[in-house]
Amino acid sequence: MKMKRINDILNDPEYLDYLQRILTAENDRIYCCHDMEHFIGVSRIAHIISLEENLDIEKEIIYAAGLLHDIGRFMEYENGIDHAIASRELAEGILTKHSFTEAERKEITSAIENHRNRVGGTTSPLADIIYRADKLSRNCVLCDIRTTCKRFQNGETAVFIY
Ligand SMILES: [Fe+2]
Ligand SMILES: [Fe+2]
Repeated sequence: MKMKRINDILNDPEYLDYLQRILTAENDRIYCCHDMEHFIGVSRIAHIISLEENLDIEKEIIYAAGLLHDIGRFMEYENGIDHAIASRELAEGILTKHSFTEAERKEITSAIENHRNRVGGTTSPLADIIYRADKLSRNCVLCDIRTTCKRFQNGETAVFIY
């Protein structure tokens, strides 16, 4: 089965435990949450961009990055650890457990570590599409608290579609 390793991650009790810990930590959060809807959304949008732009990135690699890019979010709430770093570390363990090769793990974890930065020409195609899909997955158009959202604090113009 083509997406076997992705389905294995989605059935992994460790992965589901991390998701639950994020859910609990975000119980009172007024801004967008980091739940399965977000993870699946980022994966699907990144895959669409990859197809549109003929990037030739394996669907499994895109979904692995999408499903894991915020998985360490609970550690940011619990211990103040930057969630891009925490997610990279947790992803490394989960990817190893599910037989992703060293080269695949390197590509995926580097995209996770950089998912908030647009690094320009040096970034990998995977990192670039995860960055873009992360933004596109959010419904900022109809959000009435976006003026106080971190995303728009640094003067970012509200570009919703590109
Ligand atoms: Fe994130
Ligand atoms: Fe995200």
